[in-house]
Amino acid sequence: MMRIGVLISGGGTNLQALIDGIESGYIPGEIAVVISNRSTAYGLERARMHGIPAKCILKKDYNNDQAFNAAILETLKEHNVELVVLAGYLSILSPDVVKAYPNRIINIHPSLIPAFCGKGYYGQKVHRAVLEYGVKVTGATVHFVDEGTDTGPIILQQPVMVKDDDDINSLAQRVLEVEHQLLCRAVKLFIEGRITVRGRKVSINE
Ligand code: GRF
Repeated sequence: MMRIGVLISGGGTNLQALIDGIESGYIPGEIAVVISNRSTAYGLERARMHGIPAKCILKKDYNNDQAFNAAILETLKEHNVELVVLAGYLSILSPDVVKAYPNRIINIHPSLIPAFCGKGYYGQKVHRAVLEYGVKVTGATVHFVDEGTDTGPIILQQPVMVKDDDDINSLAQRVLEVEHQLLCRAVKLFIEGRITVRGRKVSINE
């Protein structure tokens, strides 16, 4: 059973979607550990309620970013993690961590990359920018993590139409539902060995 490590920073609804996907048998994997960089992340509680090892690793407990990321990598290795999933994780992984898991770190982003992504575009800020720009279509993207921010090869995308009367919350809610489905599908496809990456091009064996 493939061992998944999930990194979170907040409410953990994407983590919950993974937990539900595993418990329903849809995702043939297991979550070996949940790591949060925020002690208040409700996602830690979600993990504990499902008997999943949950660990808080706080940047303030380390001298520098490199040591902080080394602690994350050590925890992933301790739990024999084979696939890392960033589920609402609001920190940038160091090159060392990315190098340890080449095309084995998956991130979910709440827009159609390369729009509304990169430094500073996370959570509600993404949807605010979408509404301010006035685009008619947004969506969600699942991609492999490389050493950039939201720049790795794209695995899956799904559009979400922007409604005239949308506000940040109504739009965020509709995109979040798509994120949950897309993330579970990408993790399932990965574990089943149905994803091939050639350079930036990702092929899915549906
Ligand atoms: C949400 O903004 C989601 O779009 C992004 O991370 C944030 C928190 O997600 N992926 P979660 O509820 O903590 O999974």
